[in-house]
Amino acid sequence: MEQPGYDALANLYAETFPNPYLTPLERQVIAAFADLVQESPTEGVVLDVGCGTGDVTADLADKGLDVLGIDPSIEMLSIARRKYPHLDFIHGDAHLDELPDVTIRAILARFSLIHIPPSEVAAVLDYWSTRISSGALVVVACQSTDAAGEVIEFDHVVARAWRWHPDRLAATLADAGFDEVWRTVSRPDANHRFPEVHLVARRR
Ligand SMILES: C[S@@+](CC[C@H](N)C(=O)[O-])C[C@H]1O[C@@H](n2cnc3c(N)ncnc32)[C@H](O)[C@@H]1O
Repeated sequence: MEQPGYDALANLYAETFPNPYLTPLERQVIAAFADLVQESPTEGVVLDVGCGTGDVTADLADKGLDVLGIDPSIEMLSIARRKYPHLDFIHGDAHLDELPDVTIRAILARFSLIHIPPSEVAAVLDYWSTRISSGALVVVACQSTDAAGEVIEFDHVVARAWRWHPDRLAATLADAGFDEVWRTVSRPDANHRFPEVHLVARRR
């Protein structure tokens, strides 16, 4: 699998976003997720799906979690490996076809599922639910919409992308066996054209 858009713009992406968190809420949501994972009686790695340049993977590692980043863009991965040589990053996409036989404690997908055609997302989540145990947590972050029930394609600069109404995202996760624990929804601001949802769910 490939991600030519991110391969072409990886250096520019890394220069534009030296810090993955543009707001205190974005940072705190990941901190709250990390706390929840640490409190849960699960073992293994936190899998960062679509880890990009690895900054959030590294933040989770700094919080004491074992981490593994996976991304389809060779160039994004090469930046991640350069910045964080002590961490593990592998090539692959959200379908996890390339993932070795590791025990997954939790899954983070931050602004990566947006790049998967909506018709494929249910299959991706169904597979995730087979790879983690009951009680394990996932967090999905994506650009959102206020249009009830909708998934809308938007003009992402790098690759095709879709934004999800939070309830539609929650329902899709629930269909795959993940029950919502909590969500945050932020309003657009100077740095964000759309609302954004972070949704934490637990494997039933
Ligand atoms: C906006 S960046 C986010 C990077 C990182 N998660 C963060 O929060 O900083 C989106 C990432 O998703 C990756 N991506 C694109 N398509 C993907 C797919 N089908 N499965 C998993 N990741 C994908 C891209 O290569 C890119 O690194």
